[in-house]
Amino acid sequence: MGWVLKKTIVMVGMMGAGKTAVGRALAAELGVPFLDSDHEIEAAANMSIAEIFDRDGEAFFRARETEVIQRLLESAPCVLSTGGGAYLAERNRGLISDKGLAVWLNADLELLWNRVRHRDTRPLLRTPDPRGTLRDLYLARVPFYEQADVSVPAEQGLSVQDMAERVARA
Ligand code: S3P
Repeated sequence: MGWVLKKTIVMVGMMGAGKTAVGRALAAELGVPFLDSDHEIEAAANMSIAEIFDRDGEAFFRARETEVIQRLLESAPCVLSTGGGAYLAERNRGLISDKGLAVWLNADLELLWNRVRHRDTRPLLRTPDPRGTLRDLYLARVPFYEQADVSVPAEQGLSVQDMAERVARA
């Protein structure tokens, strides 16, 4: 008998934690679809997340994010990766706990910074001091991520496959 996934596994955590890469590998391992809320928002708007922030603002993006998460949680159990801010909203946490299992990819600040420092796709980090901004976001968000059902440590040097296996075991 193979695995039967009964709830959607929802990847939460900071930008750069590896939610998308690990989520995709985990979905392949479990033989279920992989969905990504940021990707769905971009596809529906035919714009990048950065363009949506620029044109319509963060509040607009957050409203789309909640709609998309709600819709994607209606589909058959799968692995769903969410944007780093998604788990902060009480409404999103409620939707996720109703239909899914929240998995926090818990990476430390140094690893996160190493992953995001060379990319300018994250609108929230377009500040004069992106490293400081990342730290402030991290400190403010950890208390929310700690509410996830499962916390999986993401250390430097672990491959995506190793991480997917860690999540599957957890
Ligand atoms: C955000 C993270 C991004 C994206 C948006 C906002 C955040 O997703 O949703 O830029 O608030 O941390 P990733 O976590 O996939 O980078």
